[in-house]
Amino acid sequence: MSERGLEGLWERGYSRLGLLLDQQQCEATRALYGQPELFRSRIDMARYRFGRGEYQYFSYPLPAHIAELRGRLYAQLAGVATEWMSALSKPREYPADLAAFLEQCHAAGQTRPTPLLLRYGAQDFNCLHQDLYGEIFFPFQVVICLSRSDEEFTGGELLLMEQQPRAQSVGHAIRLEQGEGVVITTRYRPVKGSRGYYRTNFKHGVSPLLSGERYSLGIIFHDAS
Ligand SMILES: [Fe+2]
Repeated sequence: MSERGLEGLWERGYSRLGLLLDQQQCEATRALYGQPELFRSRIDMARYRFGRGEYQYFSYPLPAHIAELRGRLYAQLAGVATEWMSALSKPREYPADLAAFLEQCHAAGQTRPTPLLLRYGAQDFNCLHQDLYGEIFFPFQVVICLSRSDEEFTGGELLLMEQQPRAQSVGHAIRLEQGEGVVITTRYRPVKGSRGYYRTNFKHGVSPLLSGERYSLGIIFHDAS
């Protein structure tokens, strides 16, 4: 991950990571959606009023390439995560490798895997939300788009809403190419003010698809209770 990318995270609360999967890997990954034995649960978003469309959480063991990507991204982000939480005045030391962090999650009763595949059809969308599943959380998560923007779907931008203290919210719209990843803050961003850092609160979602079908892979690092 480049220094510039890390600055993007500090400056905006998200950073583009470039292509993390090639076209063939994207197609192989989204094809997993049709194999229910790989997943622990399937959520119909309309049923819970989370939006429209559906997603499935993988079971352990994760498919090998997803486990590898989750471990590699975690290792790249752990140091920044520790600095980030310190700037937020919520100091927490994140271990250098994912296995050690997951041990902390499991000891706190957060044992269920959280990486997920999402599928949106025309008019589907994901309401603005945060993915927090217990006391322990990692301050970043990664989203990878598995479909070809414009060719396979239109609309369906990744949305971030940044709630500023004593001011109106800022919206960020992120159009992703197939295989492109973006790291976003899970919860807050530390913003440098005149007297140290203050916090803005983030939610994320997906704008309604205008046409086609869009798959994405969400890599959340903390497990769920
Ligand atoms: Fe989410």
